[in-house]
Amino acid sequence: MKTATSAPFPAARFRRSKQSPLTRALVRENTLTTNDLIWPVFVRDGENIEEPVESMPGVKRRSVDRVVEAAKEAADLGIPVICLFPYTDAVLKTADCAEAWNPNNLSNRATRAIKKAVPNIAVMTDVALDPYNINGHDGFVIDGEIVNDATVAALVKQTLSQAEAGSDIIGPSDMMDNRIAAMRSALESHSHQNVMIMSYSAKYSSAFYGPFRDAVGASGALKGDKSTYQMDPANTDEALRLVARDLSEGADMVMVKPGMPYLDVCRRVKDQFGVPTFAYQVSGEYAMLQAASLNGWLDHDRVMMESLMAFKRAGCDGILTYFAIEAARKLAET
Ligand code: PBG
Repeated sequence: MKTATSAPFPAARFRRSKQSPLTRALVRENTLTTNDLIWPVFVRDGENIEEPVESMPGVKRRSVDRVVEAAKEAADLGIPVICLFPYTDAVLKTADCAEAWNPNNLSNRATRAIKKAVPNIAVMTDVALDPYNINGHDGFVIDGEIVNDATVAALVKQTLSQAEAGSDIIGPSDMMDNRIAAMRSALESHSHQNVMIMSYSAKYSSAFYGPFRDAVGASGALKGDKSTYQMDPANTDEALRLVARDLSEGADMVMVKPGMPYLDVCRRVKDQFGVPTFAYQVSGEYAMLQAASLNGWLDHDRVMMESLMAFKRAGCDGILTYFAIEAARKLAET
């Protein structure tokens, strides 16, 4: 899009259209609505439990019954999607990650409970082996190598178990090659043709995931980093190639992750492909804003809303954010 050249002063006075809330609203280019929000929540076992995640003030791990209540609240506020991340008991973590496709694992139990009790919210589930892996990696580790093809076969089993439980959107966060194609064909051949895939296409190897790994109990287990499968923070052309690849394999929506430090990637993806594009405002971004707000250094509500608007400006159709509930409440006020 070409930018019009402005008339010289005083014909052009940019302050004319800024003079009141009404005129500012009239010329506003982007809007954030509750429809744009996807709420990631952490699920743990037990009953009637909500425990705080220390490195993410305000975020809790909830037992399944409490997750159902949270999903109700989100649905009542108009949040369209809740995204489940299990905190798996250490005794269930193994090298073969079999808990990942157990029909009765935490994620699948929470999905079934939400689908039964809360019809008006979509459930998104995470596909990757790290919550179930004894070594904290997203794929199988054999002789020190994170193996691709055997991992993809396991991810397909995990995908099918989530679809059976009623997941509406599969979110593969693993970054293995060929996973989208494998999942899509398995979903098609098992009568799950309406299950959507939101691919974590441009997922960077980022230090901003630290608090999340605490939240799902994976930080202690993880040896080394994830840079043999997640992206190098120095790259953007590669992000476009990954998005093109995932779309050609059958992804319905794509994601850039983390969010705020990668807004340039969001913009390039949206401009180049014009497909539903999402960003994940990750745990470390949330932790930074919360820490500064709790210290009184930033205005919580204003930085929350400004940070979310930044994603809309960068071309995103929606945002996965731990602020979803608070932002939705704020949007309902105005
Ligand atoms: C792992 C996964 C991660 C996140 C979502 N899924 C962390 C990682 O790759 O180690 C990060 C989310 C966040 O930081 O909020 N499959």
